[in-house]
Amino acid sequence: MCGIVGIVGQTPVAPLIVDALKRLEYRGYDSAGVATLDLGKLDRRRAEGKLVNLEKRLGEEPLGGTIGIGHTRWATHGVPNETNAHPHFAQDVAVVHNGIIENFAELRDELKADGVAFSSQTDTEVIAHLVASGLKNGDAPQAAAFAALKRLRGAFALAIMFRGDEDMIIGARNGPPLAVGHGEGEMYLGSDAIALAPFTNAITYLEDGDWVVVRRGGVEIFGMDGQPVERARQQSVGTSLLVDKGNHRHFMEKEIHEQPEVISHTLAHYLNFAEGTVADFDLPFDFGKIERLAISACGTAYLAGLIGKYWLERYARLPVDIDIASEFRYREMPLPKNSAALFISQSGETADTLASLRYCRGEGVPISAIVNVRESTIARESDGIFPTLAGPEIGVASTKAFTCQLSVLAALTLRAAKARGTISAEEEQSLVRQLSEAPRFASQALKLSSGIEKVARELSHVRHVLYLGRDTNYPLALEGALKLKEISYIHAEGYAAGELKHGPIALIDEQMPVIVIAPHDRIFEKTVSNMQEVAARGGRIILITDEKGAKNATLDTLETVVLPDVPEFVAPIIYALPVQMLAYHTAVIMGTDVDQPRNLAKSVTVE
Ligand code: AGP
Repeated sequence: MCGIVGIVGQTPVAPLIVDALKRLEYRGYDSAGVATLDLGKLDRRRAEGKLVNLEKRLGEEPLGGTIGIGHTRWATHGVPNETNAHPHFAQDVAVVHNGIIENFAELRDELKADGVAFSSQTDTEVIAHLVASGLKNGDAPQAAAFAALKRLRGAFALAIMFRGDEDMIIGARNGPPLAVGHGEGEMYLGSDAIALAPFTNAITYLEDGDWVVVRRGGVEIFGMDGQPVERARQQSVGTSLLVDKGNHRHFMEKEIHEQPEVISHTLAHYLNFAEGTVADFDLPFDFGKIERLAISACGTAYLAGLIGKYWLERYARLPVDIDIASEFRYREMPLPKNSAALFISQSGETADTLASLRYCRGEGVPISAIVNVRESTIARESDGIFPTLAGPEIGVASTKAFTCQLSVLAALTLRAAKARGTISAEEEQSLVRQLSEAPRFASQALKLSSGIEKVARELSHVRHVLYLGRDTNYPLALEGALKLKEISYIHAEGYAAGELKHGPIALIDEQMPVIVIAPHDRIFEKTVSNMQEVAARGGRIILITDEKGAKNATLDTLETVVLPDVPEFVAPIIYALPVQMLAYHTAVIMGTDVDQPRNLAKSVTVE
């Protein structure tokens, strides 16, 4: 999951490329680099670590030139160091790449047999040498690039520059996204519209198999058969403001605190609060006619889907099959013709989720998607989208996107229940009214931050944590564990509370804090029994509940975090906040890089 940029411009491009890379840093940040062509000289600066290190290098050794390419990396092949940082050179060729070349080993062996020497461990360097060998055989740059593209197997978004042609960048897309930006006497390539927003909002999104020749005067687009293709030019809504942290220490903290507002915006998009009804928004299928719904997603988005399953089956009596996309895409699930598919993705670019979508497309079922980026690949390949109105989510750990995904799923549940006749008009009104209270409940939950900080200090001394929950609190237990481990690096597992006695209870001792998510709901008593089992073995319990639950939890806990009493339907949206805050505060105490945790990237565009 890397970010790539290319500019064929009128002014020095190196600082512009770095600015664009900053907007792509959420896609990967373990090294970065820029290459430019200046008066016939092809040169580059690269640096390990964050973009600030590259900026420093460029400050010490500036790069001239009005044409260049840049890259911010999330390592797939080769350790994240300067040698493996892009751009990669081979004689007169410079390449930046996002993706994985699956046949790079055989290509590298072939090139080595021809006497090529490699300086990096990356698959990308193979591309540069492949193009260079075409030039050596007498091909013109465009022909050499096209010939090389046809040899590649795997996922790639590329930008290629040639010494000797200071008015051409060749781009190609097969999997990871790539967009062309149209300027005035300038042209751009970028991984997404947000990167290009400071330069232009006139964007052409490339499709898989497209490759382009970009010059200051415009772009030519070709297919892998070498024939020209047409792609629409559209006005992007990508914001040109580089999202900032406001008065927060981290993007994650800011985004946690934006949740009352963005939950409200999202719900208002799907519900008519005044009438107490769910809005009549477009659907690519009829909930009243489908017999099953397949849901697939990754990570936190998958856990939102899991909660959606409980809701859709309970309130709309709609059977839901859900699976993580990396499994769904290969297990060839049979999809009856009268079923539909729903994909959930904040970025809209997650490779596994996109592949699962394409599997369902092949099965001929209607495709819908809950996305936070309306122009993303998943959005563009769906028959209908349900946008979350969370705004750009920069923190790698997903927070506001999750609660907005839940808000959309709650609205879809009401829409399905109405279509299937499983709720009355009065019940619809009651549930809509409960949802209309969600922003206020979320604001109240945010006030618990200092109490949660105290719990975080407990967690910062341990290496293992167990989260438990039942029913819709079980996916929240999984989400709490995911949040904690991905930003504090403490090992954490989420478990269905009822499953404890089937093995995990062996883990319980004084060293293992057990975080129990249990509002006083229909199965609260069952969860209390599970907590008794933990307490009886010396386990230390941290209970996240409400006033009623705190009164009825007849056992000693290490800490109890008390939320306001909220209606059962709304609880998963609200109880997401304390688990997010617990992970955030623990990570701050641990001193980890909260917004850009090690080994992670915001958008996983490779499988
Ligand atoms: C969640 O905090 C993680 N960053 C990760 O699991 C994420 O939810 C997952 O990669 C899916 O991303 P998407 O929503 O952009 O598809």
